[in-house]
Amino acid sequence: MSNGSDARELAALRWQSRTDEERNQESFDLFVARFCQWYADALASECWFAAVAAVEETLVGCMYLRCVDTVPVPGVTWRAWGYVTHAFVIEGRRNSGIGQQLLALLIKRGQILGLKELQVWPSRSAVSLYVRAGFQSPEAQRSAMAPDEASYVLPLAGSQL
Ligand SMILES: CC(C)(COP(=O)(O)OP(=O)(O)OC[C@H]1O[C@@H](n2cnc3c(N)ncnc32)[C@H](O)[C@@H]1OP(=O)(O)O)[C@@H](O)C(=O)NCCC(=O)NCCS
Repeated sequence: MSNGSDARELAALRWQSRTDEERNQESFDLFVARFCQWYADALASECWFAAVAAVEETLVGCMYLRCVDTVPVPGVTWRAWGYVTHAFVIEGRRNSGIGQQLLALLIKRGQILGLKELQVWPSRSAVSLYVRAGFQSPEAQRSAMAPDEASYVLPLAGSQL
């Protein structure tokens, strides 16, 4: 798991994972500075965790977990779920199990934290990664859930996360 010392490398992975159109909106240096500030705050909040993979001391992949706590419940000290986001492995290192290992680290962290569940909004090509790890499709969840447990989503902006 990342302890924050790799913030600049994580910024570079994030930069690499985005489109030319997005990168044309901001210089790399400005982005790295903004990312590093965000990441320091994120780690300090103890709500964000990043699993990282390195080859010869260079980061080649990352995956993030954001804990989302619920409004307090009487008799329950803390209840939260986790949002898995920004799964990224550099092109030359894909399909060798790194994504699976990163996800396993975050699942373990979620279990240690006592999270109720993990959620992900995967890109089409990444669906198999999550299904293999035990994530259920929306259809499977819906058939197993009471109607008042299903999640409903209202898109508010056109941009991708
Ligand atoms: C999605 C992503 C993070 C997966 O990372 P990865 O390191 O390639 O993941 P894995 O290697 O664990 O698994 C990918 C495939 O390799 C296969 N694989 C895993 N270990 C393997 C091994 N040792 N040898 C050969 N193949 C292997 C898996 O079966 C899997 O195949 P499948 O998806 O067709 O079932 C990566 O492809 C990526 O960065 N994609 C672009 C960004 C993206 O789409 N992110 C997802 C946002 S939710």
